[in-house]
Amino acid sequence: MAQRPTIVGNWKMNGSRAMLVEARAIDRVAARYKDVAVSLAPPFPLIALLRDEVSAIGVGGQDCHAAAKGPHTGDVSAALLADIGADFVIVGHSERRRDHGETDAGVLAKAQAALTAGLGVIVCVGETLDQRDAGQATAVVEAQIEGSLPQGEAACEAAALGRLAVAYEPVWAIGTGRVAEVGDVVAMHAAIRARLDARFGDAAARITVLYGGSVTGDNAAALLSAPGVGGALVGGASLTAEAFGPIIAAASAG
Ligand code: 13P
Repeated sequence: MAQRPTIVGNWKMNGSRAMLVEARAIDRVAARYKDVAVSLAPPFPLIALLRDEVSAIGVGGQDCHAAAKGPHTGDVSAALLADIGADFVIVGHSERRRDHGETDAGVLAKAQAALTAGLGVIVCVGETLDQRDAGQATAVVEAQIEGSLPQGEAACEAAALGRLAVAYEPVWAIGTGRVAEVGDVVAMHAAIRARLDARFGDAAARITVLYGGSVTGDNAAALLSAPGVGGALVGGASLTAEAFGPIIAAASAG
């Protein structure tokens, strides 16, 4: 059976308790489109609150620490995320790579910690505009795939269970309104898929590759129907049901 398209809303550092109203409204939309796997990743303090408010969507974190516990002030472990009801965690988002100097090795350690805690993981990759203009986009993304995805038997098992996803988010398309050309997205997803096949064998078929970067209700249908695009990781347009609903609808066959 084909996997359901996956639509993930990344609220980034936005939100408040008042926005739980939007989460409930998004949950109601998701309940109408059961052929789409919908989830939200709010800031840490909202995860447990949001979890209690929704039933049709998954809930995730936007980051976790690589260690299971210990003296890491301000950080949150994957085990705690799982404990408060998170289903998955996003790791290696370009904003974290930029703001916190995260490296591929650090992202890999976080991804592995998340799998150990029983969470699903979305590993983000993507090139900057300078890298694309220099003709290095594919090489950069392939190196990120090599360096930041978990490996070994446990990772293959997690992949086979559908607990591993990759999000291709060209840095220059994030929050800019400048969406990537569908042809470029298809080419990059094919390159990512080839790497996943080489690394995970049969289990790679269960790894969803999402596109992220200025996805809206207007461009979602074209992006989501492109070969190799298994769904979308959505920032700004995931903050309200009004904006997110049409993206969920575009992912649905019905
Ligand atoms: P925007 O949809 O706001 O461009 O953000 C994309 C993103 O970074 C999702 O993780």
